[in-house]
Amino acid sequence: MMDQGQPWAFACVGVLILIVVFRWNISPLNDIPTVGNFSSPALSYLSAMAFIRRGRETLQEGYRLYYGSVFKIALLDRWMVIFSGPKMVEDIRRRPEDELSFTEAVQTILQYKYTVGQKMQDDPYHTVVVKEKLQNRLLPLILPSLIDEVAPAVETYMPTINEEWTAVDISAAALKIVARTSNRVFVGSPLCLSEDYNDTSAQFAVEIVKAGTALFLFPDILKPLAAPFVSKVKQTTKRALHHLRPIIQERRTAMHQQGKEWLDKPNDVLQWIIDRAVVKDETDADITQRLLLLNLAAIHTSSSSIPHVLYHLAEQPELLEPLREEIEASVDAEGWTMSAYARMWKLDSILRESQRYNGFTLASMMRVAMKDIVLDNGTFIPKGTLLGAAAHPAHHDNAHLPNADLFDPFRFSRMREAGSSSGSSRLQFASTSPEYLPFGHGQLACPGRYFAGNQLKAILSHIILNYDLKLSDSKDDGPRPQRPPNVYLSLAVLPPIGGTIQLRKRAAV
Ligand code: HEM
Repeated sequence: MMDQGQPWAFACVGVLILIVVFRWNISPLNDIPTVGNFSSPALSYLSAMAFIRRGRETLQEGYRLYYGSVFKIALLDRWMVIFSGPKMVEDIRRRPEDELSFTEAVQTILQYKYTVGQKMQDDPYHTVVVKEKLQNRLLPLILPSLIDEVAPAVETYMPTINEEWTAVDISAAALKIVARTSNRVFVGSPLCLSEDYNDTSAQFAVEIVKAGTALFLFPDILKPLAAPFVSKVKQTTKRALHHLRPIIQERRTAMHQQGKEWLDKPNDVLQWIIDRAVVKDETDADITQRLLLLNLAAIHTSSSSIPHVLYHLAEQPELLEPLREEIEASVDAEGWTMSAYARMWKLDSILRESQRYNGFTLASMMRVAMKDIVLDNGTFIPKGTLLGAAAHPAHHDNAHLPNADLFDPFRFSRMREAGSSSGSSRLQFASTSPEYLPFGHGQLACPGRYFAGNQLKAILSHIILNYDLKLSDSKDDGPRPQRPPNVYLSLAVLPPIGGTIQLRKRAAV
């Protein structure tokens, strides 16, 4: 016998389906083609689930079908409009923040309002600090301390026994080395030596990404209620504050007592933030949070570059010799300095090639439309739409670069040697273009990329000079093994998880 409630239940489901279909038919994004397994809105959730595992293939498919224009993909709670081709990249990069906002995109994805609070959302001056202080011209002032930290950090986190081959979890080691060397510049010594502080500063990124992803799924009205249960951002900030508070207090006192006469005032990211925070009357917790947000931008992005390069070198150890020759010649001429790193064209080339070939994310130049806009090609983008550039497909496009699917470590140094000196700077690791987008492109391109380039060269040149490398399954008489594959998770590109590389300390360097 039919339950009396059943007709109502059927009616409700029917109305819901009608609403979804109606909303789909009047959706302003409806004119933008969908790429993914299921294009109907009712099934877009399934596409979003599939995208987590098949993001790379989906983006590639959209790029092939709609190059030079736009398509949309389903994320778990919204559509994302993907654009491609130099004309579209130029169009997007020229749009001001009040039309297409990068800040809003980050805050939407990481749900700042519910994870770190409104103040960080309204006044993210810590990013201005990076733009002003970590630019190429000023880097020689702060790099010496980072360079100083490299050797002890590598020796601590890549321990080898005598001169024997030792398996090292390269991603875990890279994270520790990058956290410690970055924190030398961010907070100085001795705090950069604290395992707990370095782990906390790296963990903050994990917590905020986890919380942002979980909160993304809740309707806005429930987010404040859900936040304390799904986010550990506050606890992580508290842990960092425990380390930072005494230092911040000490510096506040010195600023107060000595003012402009403070001759040995620290020149690090923490101090640059405190200088502004004092004027704005911010708390120690605010300062800590801003520092952690910069750690978020700096640590995981740079640290993932190291295993990528080392896996390629372990796969092709014959690359080590020309790199060593270049590093030794550069250091003989300039010492361990930024000028020496600028001479290392081969090392720069392998870093750029790895960023192109592997990268950190499949899509860059994330933006949110702050109002309804019409793109140069006539596409209507309604307010609130999330957009991103098809970076990975662009990097693998033979029309942009011959044999784009081949990892060719020295392709950019060869191109630089063959070209004019003015053109050669455009082929460096940190130089962006509409076809090379790991750092975005245009005015909003990553302001930390020059710092990252020098930091990565400092770490990699030390490893290359001091260690031999091979893949863990190499056999002296067997076929040449291949590096394990990357992991593609939604839009993220991760180096092989939990993989090891065999390292052996070189006898005489
Ligand atoms: C290999 C390493 C890195 C990669 C791949 C990377 C990538 C990116 C990308 C794709 C963006 C967005 C740009 C856009 O959409 O146009 C960005 C922004 C940013 N990055 Fe990086 N980044 C790296 C290292 C760093 C480092 C070391 C720092 C700090 C020391 C840093 C600080 C920032 C900041 C503050 C922003 C936001 C800029 C703004 O709000 O306008 N990044 N980064």
